[in-house]
Amino acid sequence: MLDPEKCCMTRFPAPVLAEKAKPIETIDDSIRRLAAKMIDLMVEFKGVGLAGPQAGVDLRIFVASPDGTRENARVYINPEIEPTGPLQSVEEGCLSLPGLYAKIRRSSQCTVTATDLDGNRFTETAEGLLARAYQHEFDHLEGKLIKDRFSRIQQIAARHRLRELMEDYETPSS
Ligand code: NI
Repeated sequence: MLDPEKCCMTRFPAPVLAEKAKPIETIDDSIRRLAAKMIDLMVEFKGVGLAGPQAGVDLRIFVASPDGTRENARVYINPEIEPTGPLQSVEEGCLSLPGLYAKIRRSSQCTVTATDLDGNRFTETAEGLLARAYQHEFDHLEGKLIKDRFSRIQQIAARHRLRELMEDYETPSS
């Protein structure tokens, strides 16, 4: 049973980050509380987006805010995404892969269609950083992390940091 208050930031190699998340069938109070908790985590960890699996929940929901503020945060449930525009290679990080940054090729624009917390379907078109954030968060719902998009050379460069994260995961401090 979903307990949004217990959700916390989930880091690689937590298995939920590698799974395909499941559609949300009913938008009830637990989903509204989950969305609020995810916005809290995004703001606390200074991200511009956060996906369900990053809060430890295998559901198709992400939150995003173009400037990382709570005021501009929006909730995207069961999103569909259509990347458009030319590919651009821009440096990216991920709250679930702290300390790892690499240039990732993504479309410079995209259209997202999703359901909001009132159950209404809406469509949004974005470009630049926000378009990138949508594609990054959608990847999370497919069980895909930036490391899965690394080139062979980027994989080699990331090996040490990935090993550290695996060791931290096995022997949590605190
Ligand atoms: Ni991420």
